[in-house]
Amino acid sequence: MTPFHLRSRVKQLVRRTWMKYALRGVRQNDAHDRLDLAYSVPDPWHMDSAQERHRFAETNQVIRERIAPRVGTLLEIGCGEGHQSEALLDVCEALTGIDVSPRAIERARRRVPGATFAAGDIHAMPWADERGRFDLVTACEVIYYMSDRAKFLATIDALGKHCLVTYFAPAARKVEAECMAMPGAQKTSFRYRDTEWVAVWWKGASAR
Ligand SMILES: C[S@@+](CC[C@H](N)C(=O)[O-])C[C@H]1O[C@@H](n2cnc3c(N)ncnc32)[C@H](O)[C@@H]1O
Repeated sequence: MTPFHLRSRVKQLVRRTWMKYALRGVRQNDAHDRLDLAYSVPDPWHMDSAQERHRFAETNQVIRERIAPRVGTLLEIGCGEGHQSEALLDVCEALTGIDVSPRAIERARRRVPGATFAAGDIHAMPWADERGRFDLVTACEVIYYMSDRAKFLATIDALGKHCLVTYFAPAARKVEAECMAMPGAQKTSFRYRDTEWVAVWWKGASAR
């Protein structure tokens, strides 16, 4: 093993150990404090990687081919530090990103100065009840952390003229039935080496 590979392995091990500690018990229980704690280290989910850049490009491709070549307003739920926000700017005119982690939002504002960001849960946003406010609402790799997925899906269905949810394929047995129950929902999948993700999209209530 070269010194470069050894350093990458050690970094990966440290990051995984940290996330195991920071996110223990977080799944599906709205543990917003623990999600913010995870961002005590930079890029805790390793979004600055070839694998995640591939996922961002594939997600944009789904948007272009299945939803619209370009949308006006896009709401990105769970934007983290803004890695995917940068990519999503290629498919929209105006991007709003929200995340429950204030630490992540601070970094997203620095990374993507051309977008608007807010810290908090979607239900706390002043526009949460505005029907059809956004042309597209995305929720990528975030649905696992919601305690009430049905309520969350109903909220984005009302807010967006189009909705897109992506998740890690092994999580399908937990989240897919609810996503595919949205009216007119369709799905596709994409991979990077051994890792597979699913994308589900549908027209929001105001556009049906
Ligand atoms: C795995 S990261 C995904 C980041 C980005 N969406 C992507 O796909 O690259 C999950 C993000 O969702 C955020 N999150 C979790 N629950 C949330 C909620 N209820 N509302 C908004 N953001 C949330 C976390 O703080 C974290 O930044």
